[in-house]
Amino acid sequence: MTTTQTKGDIKDAGLKAMGIQRIEWAEADMPVLRAVKEKFAKEQPLKGIKMGCCLHVTTETANLVRTLKAGGAEVFLCASNPLSTQDDVAAALTHEYGIETFAIKGEDNDTYYKHLNSVLDQKPNVTMDDGADLVTLILTKRAELSEHVVASMEETTTGIIRLRAMEKEGVLKFPVIAVNDADCKHLFDNRYGTGQSTVDGIIRATNRLFAGRVVVTVGYGWCGRGFAMRSRGMGARVIVTEIDPVKALEAVMDGFEVMPMAEAAKIGDIFCTLTGNKHVIDVEHFKAMKPGAISCNSGHFDNELNLAGLAKLAKKVGTPKPFVDQWELPSGNTIFTLAEGRLVNLSAAEGHPANVMDMSFAVQALASEYAVKHQKSLDNKVHNLPREVDEWVATLKLETMGVGIDTLTPEQQKYLASWQEGT
Ligand code: ADE
Repeated sequence: MTTTQTKGDIKDAGLKAMGIQRIEWAEADMPVLRAVKEKFAKEQPLKGIKMGCCLHVTTETANLVRTLKAGGAEVFLCASNPLSTQDDVAAALTHEYGIETFAIKGEDNDTYYKHLNSVLDQKPNVTMDDGADLVTLILTKRAELSEHVVASMEETTTGIIRLRAMEKEGVLKFPVIAVNDADCKHLFDNRYGTGQSTVDGIIRATNRLFAGRVVVTVGYGWCGRGFAMRSRGMGARVIVTEIDPVKALEAVMDGFEVMPMAEAAKIGDIFCTLTGNKHVIDVEHFKAMKPGAISCNSGHFDNELNLAGLAKLAKKVGTPKPFVDQWELPSGNTIFTLAEGRLVNLSAAEGHPANVMDMSFAVQALASEYAVKHQKSLDNKVHNLPREVDEWVATLKLETMGVGIDTLTPEQQKYLASWQEGT
């Protein structure tokens, strides 16, 4: 039920108290973002800036947008996926923290785009995307808004791929910061965040045992590496499928079985796609699966499993548990898919834990500061962040973990800057 209200569009304002409690719980495990918030509150680097954010509406995102607001920005938020919204968080943001939020878990496609448009109606100067949907909407349907935008931030690999394609075609109308490509983002969030939250999502949806099961990891990028590693840690026999020979070789040397999907399809118990590509589990793979096989996706878009093809081939015969769909194939075999092929970690669980989003969102906040500060010198391309941002975030994170490291001696500094000394 949508509650009538003056601001935002959320499910139920009555969920506010629960949202506040959970947002504070996450904040307690985000020490680097807290430090950025304190710095922003003093320095006001985003003063006078209107920000339009399209992100998964989670407790961790709530702490990011509160940080942006502390830095002086006026912030508007919508969901970057119809199933990933935490309704209590949306209620708390809108009715406690003064951040208008347009997001309802389970919203249909029309409502999803209505919410993106509501954020764009505010004429943001800086946008923040997780998957590049806001930028795409501006460039395709709301071109008049480009002139207000000084920069955009992008959180995820899939979004960066889309934005680089826009850059190549020469259609980008403002600079973009590739937050995903900062080391303090993808090395930790994509690997350890996705690793843990994907296992979490599959287990919360199915309560199946991983130990002794054949888990097929489709794709061996940073997310696939994390999921394969954590599945092995739970006692699964892990198979990796890949199209990139270097990544496939890496998986082999990391000790995983590697084979084509057509073979893996026949032996897997649990399949998870993490590729950023479409139909990586296709109809012929579903056909080949063992009875009881479970397929899901942890890549950004819901097209990694060819569910439209599956719906033509098979009959959906039930939903034995929330987020679990049961399909009967023409052979009589039954297989399962999770969360309508959407991100299983954010749909059936809560996404990455706060302690890893701490780094991702500290980088996001600092990227916004960087973009606003350097708006005049950034051209309409996809830009990487300077190394100092990664070093600042990593140094602080290590400090909060009580981990010390060494520094170069003057002799070592001189040696690294020279070339004369050799064998
Ligand atoms: N992406 C993955 N996990 C997330 C989380 N907890 N919050 C926001 N975005 C995410």
